[in-house]
Amino acid sequence: MKYILANWKMHLTVAQALLLLNRLDQKIKENENVEIILFPPISALFTLKKQLETLRNPKKFKFGVQNIYFKDEGAYTGEISAPMVKDMTAYVIVGHSERRIYFGETDNVVAKKLQAAFRHSITPVLCVGENAIDHTEGHAKKIIIDQLTEDLMLLTSSEVAKLIIAYEPIWAIGTGNFADPEEVVKMIAKIREVCGDLYGKDGGKVKVLYGGSVEPDNAKAYLKLKGCDGLLVGGASLNYQMFASIVDSAALNSLI
Ligand code: PGA
Repeated sequence: MKYILANWKMHLTVAQALLLLNRLDQKIKENENVEIILFPPISALFTLKKQLETLRNPKKFKFGVQNIYFKDEGAYTGEISAPMVKDMTAYVIVGHSERRIYFGETDNVVAKKLQAAFRHSITPVLCVGENAIDHTEGHAKKIIIDQLTEDLMLLTSSEVAKLIIAYEPIWAIGTGNFADPEEVVKMIAKIREVCGDLYGKDGGKVKVLYGGSVEPDNAKAYLKLKGCDGLLVGGASLNYQMFASIVDSAALNSLI
């Protein structure tokens, strides 16, 4: 099974999101070996969910949210909690580098959000990755070890076994400067090794994806990497033809 995730970020009005869902539905063939998860802006989620029910195969797409707060309710203006979205979504992105950079999310906050997601049976997609300086100076593995150690701190080993981790080097996100698959395969192995060291056999069961300037032309190279369970796609997921082509590559790969 390959996971292909579409992070629409802060793009698309409700009408535009509906159009994109309909186009994706027309373009993408059903494939039981590919799990397609769309992360629309929260403003479009309810309408998209309703629309999904009218499609020929409502199971073709799953939905996730791009963020939750770690508290269940309270005076936290502007925030959305796991209980508020759990009927509409099965997944949540936690610790995306844009949340860490622009909204000051620390590993401590990320750890609490992961815990909140599991508390409400939502599967988190944890993003980890090093910045350009750490990459150039050869500190990528150390950064990943530090992030995972702190981010997973509040989880049980059986929760870690259900986790999806996206390796997203920050310098590769939205830059067109995608990571070398030979380096990615090493980082994927490292992530699984660290989770195994921290949480034993269960830790080794995490699913690991790659994200960062994924496009139809480079998707195949990542999908065939040992241990790569799929891709987290940002920019290219807003173009139905590009995204459908990435999904097709995953479907083909699952036949090999
Ligand atoms: P990108 O974004 O594909 O546009 O690089 C990936 C992400 O931020 O998850």
